[in-house]
Amino acid sequence: MKNIDALKKEDMNLADKIYIFDTTLRDGEQTPGVALTVDEKIQIAQKLNNLGVDKIEVGFPASSNGEIESAKKINSLNLDSTLVGLARSLERDIDAVIDSDLSYVHTFIGTSPLHRDYKLKMSRQTVIETAVNAVEYAKDHGLTVEFSAEDATRTERDFLFDVFTSVVDAGADFLDVPDTVGVLTPVFTRELITDIRNNFSTPISVHFHNDFGLATANSLTAIECGANQAHVTVNGLGERTGNCSLEELVITLKVAYGIDLGLDTTRLYSLSHLVGRFTGVKMPVNKPIVGDNAFAHESGIHVHGILNNANTYEPMSPELVGHSRRIVLGKHTGANALRSKLKQYHIDLNEDQFCKVFDEIKSLGDSGKCVTDDDLIAIATIELGSARETPIIIKGLSLSSGANVSPTATVKLEIDGVEKETASTGVGPVDAALNAIRNLIQDSIDVELEEYNLEAITGGTDALAEVFVISSDSHGNKSTGRSTNQDIVMASILAVLDSINKLLLIQRS
Ligand code: KIV
Ligand code: ZN
Repeated sequence: MKNIDALKKEDMNLADKIYIFDTTLRDGEQTPGVALTVDEKIQIAQKLNNLGVDKIEVGFPASSNGEIESAKKINSLNLDSTLVGLARSLERDIDAVIDSDLSYVHTFIGTSPLHRDYKLKMSRQTVIETAVNAVEYAKDHGLTVEFSAEDATRTERDFLFDVFTSVVDAGADFLDVPDTVGVLTPVFTRELITDIRNNFSTPISVHFHNDFGLATANSLTAIECGANQAHVTVNGLGERTGNCSLEELVITLKVAYGIDLGLDTTRLYSLSHLVGRFTGVKMPVNKPIVGDNAFAHESGIHVHGILNNANTYEPMSPELVGHSRRIVLGKHTGANALRSKLKQYHIDLNEDQFCKVFDEIKSLGDSGKCVTDDDLIAIATIELGSARETPIIIKGLSLSSGANVSPTATVKLEIDGVEKETASTGVGPVDAALNAIRNLIQDSIDVELEEYNLEAITGGTDALAEVFVISSDSHGNKSTGRSTNQDIVMASILAVLDSINKLLLIQRS
């Protein structure tokens, strides 16, 4: 049997250069319910550029003035990534790409019988003429042209090749193969891309949707068969079930295939979170690479292995993608995991105390409860017989806001037994309250709020708000804070204080 390293490159027909074409800002924004502001698009484009993607599809300029505005603003940043605008095979759409100051157009037309007969109501000949006109028009205006045969994977092969031959003759620089409704499998992908590769020397791109959950597998197969480029989105966002996921493709190429595309993969996790926050589409905990559980371990056997050598139960290090490892406590927890957690919080227990805490964690787990770090600290400190005081407690809050006045929050805290009060303004009541807290605690601890996530967990105007934060101190310690409350400001304050109190406990132990 061949070993996996021997199989890697020798059995593949890899292109010399593989381009990553990110379409989070275009197909990703077509995720039902998602709409990004110009400022959010700019921030995402900057992060994609810092990650090192080759191309960023910034939008569909003909669809709105906002799309033209955001494309222009992103263009003015002079990023290293090439910026792309989408256009139907229409002169006015291509004009909108030119008006957006972009020099690379991604133009498309439906080629399958379904698209020709029911959407476009065009004959095969008219589809070819329309595509060729668009490519010629764009080339005449000095654009780089990527041509997509929409629904290529349900297009008759002879007609697909006629379309590709015609647009290549018209000057197309890239031929894109969209699996518009995600019907490919790896075996079909291999056959299709090999056939195209054998018949065309123009660079081939693939744009695969995820309806069967195979977009990443199919994109990898296409790359194995010589595709020069894959369209991807952050978190696999996109129409319906989305597109091939950027993080999955890039990391699988790097770790499983040994193909390093030169991207700074340590930025993947924070990019995923930013996009999750802006789009409101949160990743499931088990999402590969960036999900909360991607590097989380609970079972005793696994944690034991991880603590000795992380490779035992991780295919790569969390640092590679900017994530972090998490040991979770619960019914499967082993003694090693508990000892490592207690060490993290600098809690020293004797053997007897340790056994009692261990039993309590197990019985909480057996009763179906997920044991948080807070629970552990509480149980362990009670067991120590010296329940530590919570260093900072909220004692009072009053808010004022309205039209034409700056939102102001007055916050009273008890810090190590001493009451302090101050008022601050902010862009909203939450911001004002957090500013007041920052002022009050500055003599006790130097804290940075790294992440703030607010979610309504029930519906209606009396919905429960859940706030999750990550804070860090100047010693590099990090802590999470969580709180649920009907009042958004209170939930925010309690979550932030929760994380600050944990940092203080770490610093003082
Ligand atoms: O899925 C698709 O076919 C598309 C085209 C615009 C390329 O997104
Ligand atoms: Zn698409």
